[in-house]
Amino acid sequence: MIFVTGGAGFIGSNFILDWLANDAAEPVLNIDKLTYAGNPYNLASVADDPRYAFVQADICDEIAMATLLSRYRPRAIVHFAAESHVDRSIHSPDEFIRTNVNGTFNLLNKALRYWQTLPQDEQQDFRFLHVSTDEVYGSLLPDDPPFSETTTYAPNSPYSASKAASDHLVRAFHHTYGLPTLTTNCSNNYGPYHFPEKLIPLVIANALAGNPLPIYGDGLQIRDWLFVADHCAALRTVLADGKTGETYNVGGWNEQTNLHVVHTLCDTLDALSPRAGGSYRDLITFVKDRPGHDRRYAIDARKLERELGWKPAETFDSGIRKTVQWYLDHGDWVAQVRSGAYMNWIQKQYGDNPPGALV
Ligand code: NAD
Ligand code: DAU
Repeated sequence: MIFVTGGAGFIGSNFILDWLANDAAEPVLNIDKLTYAGNPYNLASVADDPRYAFVQADICDEIAMATLLSRYRPRAIVHFAAESHVDRSIHSPDEFIRTNVNGTFNLLNKALRYWQTLPQDEQQDFRFLHVSTDEVYGSLLPDDPPFSETTTYAPNSPYSASKAASDHLVRAFHHTYGLPTLTTNCSNNYGPYHFPEKLIPLVIANALAGNPLPIYGDGLQIRDWLFVADHCAALRTVLADGKTGETYNVGGWNEQTNLHVVHTLCDTLDALSPRAGGSYRDLITFVKDRPGHDRRYAIDARKLERELGWKPAETFDSGIRKTVQWYLDHGDWVAQVRSGAYMNWIQKQYGDNPPGALV
């Protein structure tokens, strides 16, 4: 069995669906607190799969983490659980420190104690895969080379600072205690089940509702976009073949300004679901910039390609087209998430036992 923390969120649920699509996959226990960002409805299609189980728990909960580890004896932990939205971290950083720093520390601590009880062969097979972000490296100038695994950490937001702290704890647990850890630092993901507070799903959802498309500042900030399925494939690769104690950068070789991203989304929507009375571009509205806004991120993913043979399969155009089509086909998902109704749906349908819940 593997544990997945934060498996009801955007990347975690894509990872679990992807993992279970392989018939030979080890079972998964999804451990998620179900914050506003966690939606077990994402996993309704695997709720009856005997290889999937869900438990609602907080990674900060010492007893819960220790109990789950000793009861289910995982071969690996894939750690996604986090507060993930930069804007929220600016307005209320407390929860970011609690979950991303203290929660990761608690999980590491309990994982270490569990790992120390394992027989030697199981110790050797065990992996703690920490899923982190390129934002720990700070912001690039226009002519800087992309972030590599040796770039100095320089986090600028409370979110990136909390993730940087968690990366350092993971490193320390490997270096000091020998816990077999792996860390990945990935660029901006996009794709199905992306919570519509983040740029791409927000723009699609607002456009379809006829609402303004907010662009922070001049819109010329650059992100390196990666289709979420490519990130999931990278994580499977690192989990299977990564060298313990190492970090791997994951990115799409796909730097785009925010303005270009929004234009591409508008043009794709114009083609797939035309709007009466004009282009979706007419809804673009420039708004006040994000405080401390990082100007440019870009990932050098050559280590992962050279050492483990991973590279992204999707281009930006094909990935964006798939993503827009997914949102057009899943208007019910967007409506539920935006209204908060998915929380009521879970309660009504399952009481305290969301899909796949252990009873
Ligand atoms: P998300 O916000 O969509 O999901 C986070 C999940 O974690 C939710 O299901 C939430 O309920 C759960 N969670 C939060 N606090 C918890 C706690 N205390 N205990 C248990 N569960 C808790 O996030 P995401 O975009 O899917 O990101 C997942 C991970 O990947 C994060 O660690 C993030 O830093 C990292 N990451 C994200 C991106 C990206 O572009 N989204 C890129 C690189 C790295
Ligand atoms: O780089 C990886 C990171 O990417 C992850 O670690 C984070 O969890 C994830 O949220 C994401 O962070 P960003 O801040 O880059 O993503 P976001 O979608 O919030 O914003 C992308 C860019 O778009 C950023 O430059 C801010 C801008 N933006 C965002 C929103 C929500 C806008 O211009 N308007 C908006 O309404």
